[in-house]
Amino acid sequence: MKNNIVLALTKGRILKESLPLLANAGVEPAEPIDTTRKLLLETNHEDIKLAILRGVDVPTYVKYGVADLGIVGKDILLEYGSDGFYEAVDLGIACCRLVTAGIPNMVPDVGTLRVATKFVNITRDYFGRKGRQIDIVKLYGALELAPLMDLSDVIVDLVDTGNTLRANGLIPFEEILEISSRLIVNKTSIRQKTPFLLPFIDSLEKSV
Ligand code: PRP
Repeated sequence: MKNNIVLALTKGRILKESLPLLANAGVEPAEPIDTTRKLLLETNHEDIKLAILRGVDVPTYVKYGVADLGIVGKDILLEYGSDGFYEAVDLGIACCRLVTAGIPNMVPDVGTLRVATKFVNITRDYFGRKGRQIDIVKLYGALELAPLMDLSDVIVDLVDTGNTLRANGLIPFEEILEISSRLIVNKTSIRQKTPFLLPFIDSLEKSV
């Protein structure tokens, strides 16, 4: 009997770095993932399909159980919560840091700080713990532009190589979190499909 497992993957860098781990665990997409516009892909494994999603949507698919498993950044889990699924494995891929950053010598020491970010909850929590008053400017991308155009004093954003910050004359100030991608598992799936899922999760963990 087929297990009909769906694994939700985050498109972009996480997808790219997930593929070698999946290949080590014996799972490969049935068609080239770079060129296809398909969002639900067959694999070489008759039991497993891959759903290709925006990171922010991966927890929703896994929470509702339409995907049994997901691979998603820890930033998304912290920002949007982890209800309805277990965080099973730290896959150690797509590593980066969540930092505050801005233009050197242009950040006020006192008073309300204007912070541009897509990570509203993490940012509120971080500055709340520091006791600093902030106004959040919610953006969806290209955050580095905000201080340059005086939309904000600082940004809270992910940094990998630091190239985007440097190219825009910004520097990192404080590290808020180290981020990596996690394997998440729907709570019902793990109970109902244990004989298939446990060995699969185990082999993914071993391929890390
Ligand atoms: C991410 C992040 C930074 C950049 C950091 O943006 O938000 O802008 O990558 O990478 P780096 O330190 O290696 O330069 P992404 O490319 O995902 O696009 P976005 O701005 O739309 O979020």
